[in-house]
Amino acid sequence: MYENLVYEMKSQYNNSSNVVIREFCMEDYDSLIKLWDDSNLPHKPEGRDRRDKIEYELKDANAVFFVALVEDKLVGSVFGTHDGRKGWINRLVVAPEFQRRGIARILVARVEEVLSALGIEIIACLIEGWNEDSMQVFERLEYKRHPDIVYFTKRKNPDV
Ligand SMILES: CC(C)(COP(=O)(O)OP(=O)(O)OC[C@H]1O[C@@H](n2cnc3c(N)ncnc32)[C@H](O)[C@@H]1OP(=O)(O)O)[C@@H](O)C(=O)NCCC(=O)NCCS
Repeated sequence: MYENLVYEMKSQYNNSSNVVIREFCMEDYDSLIKLWDDSNLPHKPEGRDRRDKIEYELKDANAVFFVALVEDKLVGSVFGTHDGRKGWINRLVVAPEFQRRGIARILVARVEEVLSALGIEIIACLIEGWNEDSMQVFERLEYKRHPDIVYFTKRKNPDV
């Protein structure tokens, strides 16, 4: 549904490499899980990141999942969703060897663009307290930190 876009990386991986941003498809699933494992991104392979759960979520018109590819290798991901009131950014990750080249900035901008076109005017992201690096990244992307907000959840089981 969304077109593939090609961007130049901020610094060079090699002289000719660009990064392609395209929609995630289920054929990417194994590479995606490997990327998250290699990048130490906390995820829930037996819960909401299980293949069938993601496949189900992908059918939701309020979900936009993008991946970043360099020379056909999956090097980044971002999941965007909205509930009509607010947009959410999840599962933002860039492979360690491709970090600090502007790929996360491009991925987040792509989700913002799509959610904004759907009329969403606020986008939020939850970041675990230990992940100060990511907090700094979001601040660089002009997100406001809210240290006064405490996150509450109720789970059917610890894997979800
Ligand atoms: C967070 C993450 C996705 C950033 O990816 P990235 O492609 O390296 O980020 P970018 O290169 O697009 O950088 C975006 C901005 O953040 C800054 N930045 C990047 N990494 C940073 C770090 N570790 N500390 C501080 N600032 C950082 C960049 O300088 C850039 O700012 P600028 O454009 O104003 O110079 C990546 O570090 C990652 O995958 N981390 C592990 C997974 C994770 O924690 N994900 C977030 C879960 S909420």
